[in-house]
Amino acid sequence: MESIECLGNIPLEPCVFVIPGATGDLANRKLLPALFNLFKNKALPEPFLIIGCGRTRIPRKAFQERTRASLERAGILDPGKWGVFSNSLFYKQLSYHDAQSGKALARYLKSLDRKEKTRGNRIFYLALPPALYGPVAGILGKAGLGLEKKEGWGWSRLVVEKPFGYDLESALRLDREIRGHFEEHQVFRIDHYLAKETVQNILTFRFANAVFEPIWNRRYIDSIHIMAVERLGVEHRAGYYDQAGVIRDMFQNHMMQLLAMVTMEPPPQFESDAVRDEKIKVFRSLRPFPVDALKALLVLGQYTRGFSGQTPLPAYREEPGVRPGSLTPTYALMKVFIDNWRWQGVPIFLESGKRLKKKRTEILITFKDVPHLMFQKTFDEAISPNRLVLGIYPEEHIQLTFQTKSPGVKMCLKSAVLDFKYHQESAAPVLEAYEKVLIDCMTGDQMLFWRQDGVKACWSFLTPILNACETCAFREAMLHLYPAGGPRLHAARILLGS
Ligand code: BG6
Repeated sequence: MESIECLGNIPLEPCVFVIPGATGDLANRKLLPALFNLFKNKALPEPFLIIGCGRTRIPRKAFQERTRASLERAGILDPGKWGVFSNSLFYKQLSYHDAQSGKALARYLKSLDRKEKTRGNRIFYLALPPALYGPVAGILGKAGLGLEKKEGWGWSRLVVEKPFGYDLESALRLDREIRGHFEEHQVFRIDHYLAKETVQNILTFRFANAVFEPIWNRRYIDSIHIMAVERLGVEHRAGYYDQAGVIRDMFQNHMMQLLAMVTMEPPPQFESDAVRDEKIKVFRSLRPFPVDALKALLVLGQYTRGFSGQTPLPAYREEPGVRPGSLTPTYALMKVFIDNWRWQGVPIFLESGKRLKKKRTEILITFKDVPHLMFQKTFDEAISPNRLVLGIYPEEHIQLTFQTKSPGVKMCLKSAVLDFKYHQESAAPVLEAYEKVLIDCMTGDQMLFWRQDGVKACWSFLTPILNACETCAFREAMLHLYPAGGPRLHAARILLGS
C-alpha cells in the first residue's frame, strides 16, 4: 500500500462518496475495503463521507456493522482506525426507479453538506447490476444531482463499471440515458486493466525512451500477441457470463485497451484527452472483420471437464447457472489488423480464455528475422527472431530475447535474455487497482477511464463479429471444446502458426 507521500501533491477536495448498491458484493469485497485502506494511509480528503444506498431500509448502525464485517473478512480491519472511519459511514434508502427517492437523497446530501462541510462535491459509484445504470443515473439526474457548480453545488461524478452495454445499440442507449443527466467529463467508466502498473508502464516504455519507437512498426515487427488467459472458471458469475461470453467480457474492454496502449501514436502530452484521442484512432483503424470468413481469423472455445492437478473440474455447461447446452464461448483467439501506415500487414493476435492451465497476462512482440543470413556457411541452425515480452501477470517485467555467440571455439548461437523486473528498483508499495481509480475519481483525472467514443468504436468493431458468431449456421461446429485446466487449444496453435 502506498503512503500519502507517494501519492504526490494531488489536491483532494472534500467530498461525499455515494454508493448505490452498497449492500452488494462489489461494494463489500472491493469498494469499502479500498476506501478503508486509503483512509488508513491518510490518502482520503477531509471531510470525506461515505453514503451507502440500497433498496432496503437499514439503520446507519447496521450499515456500519456490515462494513466492519466486510473489512474483517478482507483481513484489513484495524480496530484503532475503525472508530473514526465508521463515523464517516451513513446510509440512505434509495428506490432505483423512483424519482421521489432520488429527490429525498438530494435533500439528504444537501443537509450533510451543510453539517459536514463537504462543499457539494459528490461521487456516485454505481455498484449495481448494469441494467440499473440507466434508471439510477436518471433518478439522480432528475433530482439535480448531476448539476455542477451551481449555487450550493460542487462537482458531481458518476462512476460505472463494465459492461457498458451488450452490443453497439445497447451501449448507445445506455450512453443516452446517462448523458441525459451527466456530461462526458463527469462520467468515469472503469477498466481495471488500466489501473495496473505494468499496463501504465507501456506508455512510459514506448515514449520515454528513444530506442524503441523507431523500430516499433511494420518494418521491424512481425507480429504482436496480446494474451490474458486464466485458470479460473466462471465462478459465481455464470448468470452474467453465460449471456456475455469471453468477447464481451474481456475483448470489448481490457484487450482493446492493451491493443491501444501497444499500437497508438505518441500523444502530444501525457494528458487524459490527448492520450484517449490517440487510442480512438487505433480503434477506428481496426480493419473490419470479414464476417463471412470468420474461421480464418477467429477461434472460439468452451471448456469441458478436466483437472487441476488431481482435482476434477466441471465442464462449463455443468457450472451452476449456465444454461444446459450453452454455446457461450469461454475462449477466443482473434487475428486483427490495423489499417494505418505504422501497422499495415502486421498480424495482431488477441487471446483470452478461462480455465486454462495457467493464468498469464502478457504482450509478446516478435520482431522480423534478420534480413540476411551471413552465418549460413558457419552453422545451419535457424536464427530465432528477437522477442520482447511486456509481462503483466504473473511476472511484472520487460524481457528482451536476443542472440549471442555461445562461449567456446566453435561458432554457435545462444539466446540470451535481458530481464527487467518491474518492482526490482523500488521498495515503494503499490496502490491496488481499485484504490488507484478511486483516487483518480476524486482528483477528476479521466486518463485511466474509457471515453464514450472509444466504447462506441470498439462496439462498432466487435458487434458484427458477435452477431455473425451468434447467428451463423455452424455456431456449434465453431466452438472447440477444450479440457478445463488444459493447455492451449490445437486450433489456436494453428492460427498462431506455432
Ligand atoms: C474481469 C472479467 O473484467 O477481468 C473477468 O469480468 C476476468 O471475467 C477478470 O476474470 C480478469 O482480470 P485480471 O485482473 O485477474 O486479469
